[in-house]
Amino acid sequence: MCGIFAYLNYLTPKSRLEVLDLLVTGLKRLEYRGYDSTGVAIDSPDSKNIVMVKRMGKVKVLEDAIQEHFTGGEYSEPVATHIGIAHTRWATHGEPCERNSHPQRSDEGNGFVVVHNGIITNYNDVKTFLRKRGYEFESETDTEVFAKLVHHLWKTHPTYSFRELVEQAILQLEGAFAVAVKSKHFPGECVAARRSSPLLVGIKTKTRLATDHIPILYGKDDKKQTSDQVLPRSDSTSEFMPLEEKEVEYFFASDASAVIEHTNRVIYLEDDDVAAVRDGTLSIHRLKKSLDDPHAREITTLKMEIQQIMKGNYDYFMQKEIFEQPDSVVNTMRGRVRFDGNAIVLGGIKDYIPEIKRCRRLMLIGCGTSYHSAVATRQLLEELTELPVMVELASDFLDRNTPIFRDDVCFFISQSGETADTLMALRYCKQRGALIMGITNTVGSSICRESHCGVHINAGPEIGVASTKAYTSQFISLVMFALVMSEDRLSLQQRRLEILQALSNLADQIRKVLKLDSKVQELAKDLYQHKSLLIMGRGYNFATCLEGALKVKELTYMHSEGIMAGELKHGPLALVDDSMPVLMIVLRDPVYVKCMNALQQVTSRKGCPIIICEEGDEETKAFSSRSLEIPRTVDCLQGILTVIPMQLLSYHIAVLRGCDVDCPRNLAKSVTVE
Ligand code: AGP
Repeated sequence: MCGIFAYLNYLTPKSRLEVLDLLVTGLKRLEYRGYDSTGVAIDSPDSKNIVMVKRMGKVKVLEDAIQEHFTGGEYSEPVATHIGIAHTRWATHGEPCERNSHPQRSDEGNGFVVVHNGIITNYNDVKTFLRKRGYEFESETDTEVFAKLVHHLWKTHPTYSFRELVEQAILQLEGAFAVAVKSKHFPGECVAARRSSPLLVGIKTKTRLATDHIPILYGKDDKKQTSDQVLPRSDSTSEFMPLEEKEVEYFFASDASAVIEHTNRVIYLEDDDVAAVRDGTLSIHRLKKSLDDPHAREITTLKMEIQQIMKGNYDYFMQKEIFEQPDSVVNTMRGRVRFDGNAIVLGGIKDYIPEIKRCRRLMLIGCGTSYHSAVATRQLLEELTELPVMVELASDFLDRNTPIFRDDVCFFISQSGETADTLMALRYCKQRGALIMGITNTVGSSICRESHCGVHINAGPEIGVASTKAYTSQFISLVMFALVMSEDRLSLQQRRLEILQALSNLADQIRKVLKLDSKVQELAKDLYQHKSLLIMGRGYNFATCLEGALKVKELTYMHSEGIMAGELKHGPLALVDDSMPVLMIVLRDPVYVKCMNALQQVTSRKGCPIIICEEGDEETKAFSSRSLEIPRTVDCLQGILTVIPMQLLSYHIAVLRGCDVDCPRNLAKSVTVE
C-alpha cells in the first residue's frame, strides 16, 4: 500500500516549482494506492537544507498547501540537478495525520528523509536500539526508524557512501518495504530499494539509451567493522559499467502509471535490489549474491498509453473501466482465440500444458474480486479439465498451512500482481514444488515474475479501487485455460464450440448490458437510502452475488451479502420481509427451477426482489415489478453479463450517497501488506 514517487533531474534544469508539479502529478497517478495523507520533500532555495510539506487527506490538499507554501521567486529559479521525493499514504502504523505522514525524517535538521511503502516488522527492536543511542521519535510510524537508523549509521561510519548507508540499514530490517531516500548530506543523490513491495525506475534521456541492461553490482565483506554495526559493510565491485548519461531524468515510482507520461523506459527492481543515482549515474546493487541471479536488470519498454490512465469524459475511473469492458474482454482474447479455426493458444503456458494435464489438482488462489473470478469459473474448469479444482482465499489458505504437493498446479490470480497474501501463498506453494501459474494484469509485477508461467489478462490499467474490468478479463482468461485443457477431448468438442461461439458474441452483448445504465440508475434511487441489500443466485451466478455484494460494500458502505440461493432456507430467509431490499439472478440454465423455488420463497415472505433475468423471459419477470433483462448466452459465461448490472448499481448507489467512487474510505487498490 502507499505510493512512492521520486524525481531526480541531472543536468536537466528545472525550477523547484516545476519539480513540485511533477511530484504532485506523480502522486495523483498513485493516489489509488492510499489516500490518508501525503507529503513531499525538496531542497531549500540555498540547496543546503531539505524542505518538507505534509498534509492529511488527499493529494489535492497537498497541492493547495504547496501553492501557499512555495511563493518566493527563488523557487522559480532553475536548478541543474535536484532530487525530490513524495508519498501518498495508506496508514498501517499510526493514525493518518501530518506527524505520521511521509517523508519521515532522521533528525530535526532533516538530514535524511524517507518515503516508504510496506511494513517494517522489527521496527520496535530497532526503535529500542536507537532510543538507547539517544534518538527520540516524533511519529508512530515504522518508517521513522529507517530514517533514524540511516542517520545513526552515517554518524558512526562517516566514510560510507549514501548507498552503503541505506544498504546497511536495510540489512537490519525485516518485513516488506520499498523506500526512496534523500539526504542533505548527499545532495543530488537518491537511493531506493525494495523488498516485497513494488518499485520501478523510469529513465528519460534526450537521445536513445546506449544500453538495454543495467548491470547488477554485488557487495563484498569488509574487515573495517565497529561493534555497533550488526552486519558487515558492503562495497561494490564490478566489471560492468553502470548507466551513465550526461543529461538524464530518473523517476522512482510504485508503479508504471506514475511514469508513463514522462518515459516508457523502466527497470522493475527485484527484492533486495538497491538502486542508487550519483553524479547522474544509475547503478543497481544487490545485498547478497545468489546463483540464479541474472547479471543485469533489463530496461523494458512500457506498452501502456497515457490515455489509458486518464479519465477522459467519465466522472470516475471506475465508471470508465466499467464501460471499457466491451474492449477489454476482446483484448484479453486478442491473438489467443481463433474463432474461425476454433483454436486457442495461450503463449505464456503452452509449454506447460502436458505437465498441467498430468497434475493431481488445480488450486485457484486470490483475494477479493480475484478470488471471485476463481469461484465464477470453478465449475467450468471441473467440467473441461476433469480435475479436482480447489478455490482458496489466499489469507485463509496460508492460515491453514494447506498441504501442497509437487504435482499440484497453483494459479495465483491478482489484478495488481502485488497483493501480499497472494504473493505469500505463491511462495509457499513454490517452496513445496508445485507448478506456479500467474494470472495478472500488471506486467512486471511480483506475481508475474515469480510464476513459472502465466496468462497476462491484458485488461489495461485499472485505476478505480473497485475492480471491474479486471474481473471480467480474469474470468475470460480462466475460461480460455479450460478450453485449452479440453482441446483434444472428443466428447467435449460440442461444448467447446458452444463456448467459443458465445465468446465471439460477448463484446456486443456487454454493450447491450451497458445500455441498461439509466435503468440501473433508477433502481439505485430506490435503494440508496436503505441499510442493506441481499443478492441471491446459484450455480454459475453465485460468484456474481459475491462480487456484487463486495462492490456494494466497498463503494457505498452499505451492508450487502451475496447469498447462495440453495442456502436460503438454512438461515438467510429469516432476513426477508416486505422492506428488505433483495436482488435475485434467475436465468434459464440447469439451476433455473431451483432459482424459481428460491424466488417463490422470497415473494411468499412479502419480499419484492429486483430480478436479473434473460431477455424476453416473461414468466420470470412476472414475479416482480422491477427487472433487468440481459442477453442470453452459454451458462458458463452468464456471470460476465450478470456482474455488469451489479457494477453499475454499486457505482450509482455510491454516487447518490455522496461516496468517493474511486477512493472508498479505508481501502487502497493494491494491498501489499498481510
Ligand atoms: C476489489 O474491488 C477490491 N478492491 C479487492 O477485493 C481486490 O480485488 C483484492 O484486494 C485483490 O487485489 P488483486 O487482484 O490486485 O490481487
